[in-house]
Amino acid sequence: MPYTLTVNGQTKTVDVPGDMPLLWVVRDVLNLKGTKFGCGIGQCGACTVHLRGRAVRSCQTPVSMAANATITTIEGLSPDGTHPLQVAWQEIDVPQCGYCQAGQIMSAAALLQTTPKPNEDDIDRAMSGNVCRCGTYLRIKEAIQKAASMPPRPIQTAQR
Ligand code: FES
Ligand code: FES
Repeated sequence: MPYTLTVNGQTKTVDVPGDMPLLWVVRDVLNLKGTKFGCGIGQCGACTVHLRGRAVRSCQTPVSMAANATITTIEGLSPDGTHPLQVAWQEIDVPQCGYCQAGQIMSAAALLQTTPKPNEDDIDRAMSGNVCRCGTYLRIKEAIQKAASMPPRPIQTAQR
């Protein structure tokens, strides 16, 4: 059945089964490969995207739940890679292998949307579902704090 989604500011119609995970739609139908498959069972956070402005596990979200909704993936976080989190991530050189990092940034971006000046507990709570096998947790926390100290900026959809 066709579903209409607004992905990174662009309206897309996809003709897929309603129970197809949003992750498959994003990666395999829309060819946005920044969002990653990690566990497929909602346990790692690699597949995190924003659905109606909230961070969700796209591997656990049937596309039918995203019908007519606004979705932002890592490709849509900013038009030019200058969202404060992207800047802080680069300055602190957070990633190791990089696999988990799109999901980490999307969880952090959802946090900063609701809590522009998060304390440590806020960060721990928001990021607790995002696993990093390389153990970059301390740099992730540092980068979130750094981004929070920059002038806040709403997500500017990148149209990709
Ligand atoms: S792939 Fe979705 S939570 Fe791991
Ligand atoms: S940077 Fe390798 S899994 Fe997080």
